[in-house]
This record gives sequence, structure tokens and C-alpha cells, in this order.
Amino acid sequence: MKIAVYSCREDETALFEKYGKEYGAELSISSLPPIPETAHFARGCDAVNIITTPVGRELIDIWHGYGVKAIATRTVGYEHVDHEYARSLGISVSNVSYTPHTVAEYTVMAMLMSIRKMKAILTRYVGQDFSLREIRGKELCNMTVGVIGTGKIGETVIKNLSGFGCRILAYDVHEKDGLRGLAEYCGLDALYRESDLITLHTPALPDTCGMINRDSIASMKDGVILINMARGILVNTADLIEALESGKVAAAALDVIEGESSIYYKDFKYRPVGHHEMAILQAMPNVIMTPHTAFFTDEAVGDMVRYSIEHCVKAGTAAPNN
Ligand code: COI
Repeated sequence: MKIAVYSCREDETALFEKYGKEYGAELSISSLPPIPETAHFARGCDAVNIITTPVGRELIDIWHGYGVKAIATRTVGYEHVDHEYARSLGISVSNVSYTPHTVAEYTVMAMLMSIRKMKAILTRYVGQDFSLREIRGKELCNMTVGVIGTGKIGETVIKNLSGFGCRILAYDVHEKDGLRGLAEYCGLDALYRESDLITLHTPALPDTCGMINRDSIASMKDGVILINMARGILVNTADLIEALESGKVAAAALDVIEGESSIYYKDFKYRPVGHHEMAILQAMPNVIMTPHTAFFTDEAVGDMVRYSIEHCVKAGTAAPNN
């Protein structure tokens, strides 16, 4: 089994070497992204291992021509791969499932930072403004938290929150019996109406894209706090900005934003980013922005590398079209 590993970061190299050996796979490792210009790197390989770069038909066609049988993405989400097209050519597409604690703990951190106005406290400290003006916070134990999506991450957020004493509302099309003692499942309307803080843990699907928009925000409590550690596309960014400016939304913590894919994980220190909405949000004292780093722990990166190799190896030994 020969695997072409694309977009390998420095912090992943040793893990690829370790798990490549463990699974008996021969790896060709590159820091380059998977784009048509680098497609040749997968010549002679049975599988390709990618991360967040969008993979469309042109690239898939070239890999198919080389005899690639599997595309493994080291991510949970796989909307960046034209998986239906790949599968129609008999190429398997797999994603990974890594420890949900990484994003769940980050979510709780973002909630606490938002309700305690931590961005203002930290930035004011840098300017030696130690006054108490406008930084009085609230206690999570007195709040109602709405969790949208109770897959592994949403479920872990609920379990983590259960120690804080807050009321927890949950919404998902598939309700989990195991969560019933910890959260009250309800419809989206009730969740919007009753939550002081809303956190998103749902994948990007046709009916979840743009679900947080002018209309849904209007049905939320005045002064609601929004947390998005899931996918930028779930939120209509222009509508969120409008709601933050009017005060309808009191604060937000966003690890993701629409249009992030060509920006995050790159260094723009000395050049303009060119994402106007990102700049507006970043300038707000009540908005915490992070560059899609909620996943980034030793444990999760280890899982991403390990399980993506395991999937390539399994696909290589499975019957065609699996
Ligand atoms: C995922 O695994 O789906 C993530 O969101 C993290 C990835 C962008 C590195």
C-alpha cells in the first residue's frame, strides 16, 4: 500500500512516520496541497491522504487515471471533497473521527470567555487599563444554553456543561436517549426563544447552511450569545454583523467563518487578508475570533493521522467500490 500524503505540517511528520510503519504503509510525504499542479505526486500510489484543501473533479480525474483507489481526509467534515463524484469512479472517500473533547473543551472555553468579556479584559490589560468599566460578566450556572447538534461533539459539550449547573436545551434530528437526564430536547423554535447562549455543532448540510440568519436571530432572546466552532457556512455573516451592531446578539465566539478556506492556516502578517467581514468582526470587542483551531490538540492530531492511514490501508484491502 503506497499513500501520497498531502499538506503535511511539521507537527504531523513524526506521526506519519510512526503510523506509516505501524500499518505497514509506504508513505510519500509532501507539504504541498492537493491541486491539479501537484497531482503527479500521487502517481503510483494506491491512496491519497489530504486535509482541508477542496478536491474537485479535475483532480479526482487525474488521480483516477493514476489508479488511486482511496481518498482519506484527516478531518471529520468532508464537504471539501466531491465525494459523490469520486465514489462514482469507484474511489472510496473516508473521513476520520477524532477525540470530541478537543472541540468540546474549546467550546466551553469560548462560552466562558464570552460571558466574562475576556477579549475586552485581555486587550485592555495590554493598554494598562485596569478599570472595571463594562467588563462585568454573568455566571453560566444561571443561563440556559442551547446546543444545536448532538453528535459526538455536541454530546460531549453537554456532558462538560453538566457540571456548571446551567439549564441545557438540545436540538437534533436524531435524539440520544443517553442525554435525556442532562439536556432537554426541544424544537429549534423553543431553543432559539429560550436560550441565553447558543452553540452550533451540526455539519454543513443543505438544510443547515445559513440556518443562523436575520430571521432565526430575530426569534432569539435579546442579548443572546452565539458560539460557532462547527462550520462558517452555518451562519450568514452579514446578518450576524448586523445583529451584533444592533445589540440583538451581545457577543459571539467564532472559530470558523464563511470564506475562511483560502485564509486560515496561512500567515498574513505583512499583507491584506481581503476578507471584509472577518475584519469587521475581529475589530469588535465582544467577538472572539480564532482561526479554526478548536481541533488542534496532541490527541486529536494523533487520531487524525492514525485513522486516516488506517482508512487508506483498509480501503486498499477491501473489495472494489467499498
Ligand atoms: C474537521 O475535522 O472537520 C475540522 O473542522 C478540523 C479541520 C479543519 C482541521
